[in-house]
Amino acid sequence: MNAQPHDIAAMESLLAFWRDAGVDACYGEAPVDHTHIAPPPAVKAVQRATASVVARPTAMDGQAALAEARRLANGAGALQDLAAAVAAFEGCDLRGMGATQSVFGRGDPTASVLIVGEAPGAEEDRLGQPFVGRAGQLLDRMLDAAGLTGKVFIINTVFWRPPGNRTASPQEQALCAPFVERAFALLKPRAVLLLGAASARSVLQTDEGIMKLRGQWREWRLAEGAVAAPALPTLHPAFLLRQPQAKRQVWADLLTLASRLETDSV
Ligand code: URA
Repeated sequence: MNAQPHDIAAMESLLAFWRDAGVDACYGEAPVDHTHIAPPPAVKAVQRATASVVARPTAMDGQAALAEARRLANGAGALQDLAAAVAAFEGCDLRGMGATQSVFGRGDPTASVLIVGEAPGAEEDRLGQPFVGRAGQLLDRMLDAAGLTGKVFIINTVFWRPPGNRTASPQEQALCAPFVERAFALLKPRAVLLLGAASARSVLQTDEGIMKLRGQWREWRLAEGAVAAPALPTLHPAFLLRQPQAKRQVWADLLTLASRLETDSV
């Protein structure tokens, strides 16, 4: 079929519209609804155990993918091995949605603080490390000012960049959770900092809003009960880039964290 000039102009205009709306990758022929409402906690607990993939079908179904994630994660004896296990995991649909590589963690593998962000962005996807874009630079400056440089290990709730930087879905987070939990178990941090609503939702299994949660200590305890640590939700640094007046709240949270580390080590 020969396209007519007016068809081409219409197509270019549509593509420009999508680009301006933030669509930067095409990975499927049919649209996927990532905006469905999160189910209540009881349903969610079951879902987590049987996490199914809502995006296009992968080679593995949801149950098999979750079992494979657990198998790979539990086989890792050190954070370095866990990075390799994440890279080998093929069960997360985000892999096929334009991400160029897995993004695991950065920082001191003996750190006393585990920081859990949301998902890699474009810079992280390009460089293969979490929080290396503008939000990450702001995070580093704030950690430095709070005396926390060198005391943190940073990961995300998912290890591949979601297309168009959309929020990772609860299903994608549930599939990556075995790796997040293994990182927690291997590091055994003295405290955990949760960056943003999607991180708090995934780790604490709560639907409470981040504005209410932030600055309040919660406990993150793995199901087996062997590993637990106090977890402090705070606002995401990308939010601070848009709303700089909220920096004072994150600053207060970082000081709370630093002071707890000081006090607990006395
Ligand atoms: N935002 C995140 O939540 N994680 C990153 O790694 C980068 C930006």
